[in-house]
Amino acid sequence: MSGKTYWIRTFGCQMNKLDSELAAGQLEAAGFARAPGDESADLVLLNTCSVRAKAQDRATSMLCNYTRDERGRSGQRLVGVMGCVVQQMKGKLLEAPCYADFALGTGAVSQLAEIIDRLAAGERGILALQADCSAWDYDSSIVRRQNKRSAFVAISRGCSNFCSYCIVPYVRGPIKHRKPECIIDEVKRLADAGYIDVCLLGQNVNAYKHGELKFVHLLEKLAQIDELRRLRFITTHPKDLCLDTVKMMAHQPFAPYISLPIQSGSDRILGLMNRGYTRRDYLEKVSWLREHVEGCFISTDIMVGFPGESDADFEDTLEVVRLAQFDNVYSFIYSPRPFTKASSFGNEVPKLVVKARFKRLLALQRQNHVERLRPFVGKTVEVLIDGASKKDRSAACGRSPQHVIVNLPQDRCEIGELVLAEITEAGVRTLIGKVTKRLMPAPRS
Ligand code: 5AD
Ligand code: SF4
Repeated sequence: MSGKTYWIRTFGCQMNKLDSELAAGQLEAAGFARAPGDESADLVLLNTCSVRAKAQDRATSMLCNYTRDERGRSGQRLVGVMGCVVQQMKGKLLEAPCYADFALGTGAVSQLAEIIDRLAAGERGILALQADCSAWDYDSSIVRRQNKRSAFVAISRGCSNFCSYCIVPYVRGPIKHRKPECIIDEVKRLADAGYIDVCLLGQNVNAYKHGELKFVHLLEKLAQIDELRRLRFITTHPKDLCLDTVKMMAHQPFAPYISLPIQSGSDRILGLMNRGYTRRDYLEKVSWLREHVEGCFISTDIMVGFPGESDADFEDTLEVVRLAQFDNVYSFIYSPRPFTKASSFGNEVPKLVVKARFKRLLALQRQNHVERLRPFVGKTVEVLIDGASKKDRSAACGRSPQHVIVNLPQDRCEIGELVLAEITEAGVRTLIGKVTKRLMPAPRS
């Protein structure tokens, strides 16, 4: 399909971003070029998320809009869908009102190349679902990365925790661990090619295990790769984070950053969620991080309005936010999901109560965010450029080692460039700065 163009829209988590890069690589190998936008693309692919109903609805209505437009035009453009919603809705996405030309499940991304051939032969309505495999790998050479210094590397897929609210174990299947030699080989090759920022991915990275080799052993091996400057991993389940891992994070090349979702500050709710830790366990892990990893940024996820959440439970959550002094909080309103245990709990919290609690949590975290970022003002930080600022497309934007967004409104930089910047202002979640030194140019590819 040479001369054709594609456009991918990604919803959801970093695992989905990596899957989109895997899909892009296969499309480019088949002769497609990246389109400047969706309008002109010959193939549009939506990579979907089903973690909350809103994310799922946005993706399916966008799919319906594309396919409806297409039926109104010549029908030449191909519209496909991939990701968690495919595992959830399966063949329904090929029928009315969605009418996708093809649908690719979470474990079937590598089959895109073969599907492109079938599409080229005129086939439509193709469904490829997750293969049931316990040993899992992917061909990292086909991943099409935008930023030539920053890479996602998957170490496991799926999840076997069965938190009572979460759809992921049902749409991504049980946890499957990638072979350590494949992971180490990929990271070494990335480092040789000039990548300095590597983010290990898994729904629960700390549960990684291959034979006797655990996550901390994998980190030990990866830490020996000299060229790396920022080794990160997401997401960490608090029950599986061990002190050895925290101590290791104190050293180069680990970035001083962790995503450690607490979900609730109430032990009663944590029990109903089947999280496997108490608030005390969680706060102990926060204290390990504060003690051993200098300047560590701790990001968390919190859910409001879980079935049966009382005023007292919510106050417990607010208290934990104050005690843990989170650097970043992502808050979500509970959304009942198909297949999950919590969706049959009943005991729904009235919508107005949920809204009022959510507002209070946002106000508290906003205050926290500003306080946590203020000490950066006047300091110089290393920034890895990853694109343009969302507000001003002509301004450069990147990430500090703590993974904080740094906007550089007065500077022109390329994606993949490494600079030093003096911080002039601190916002709610972002810093503003000015380049003082250019450390590494963007790699030429
Ligand atoms: N409703 C609302 N938020 C959810 N999350 C996961 N499942 C749900 C749900 N059913 C949130 C959790 C998780 C983040 C990725 O999404 O906070 O950490
Ligand atoms: Fe969305 Fe979760 Fe699937 Fe990621 S794993 S795409 S967050 S449902």
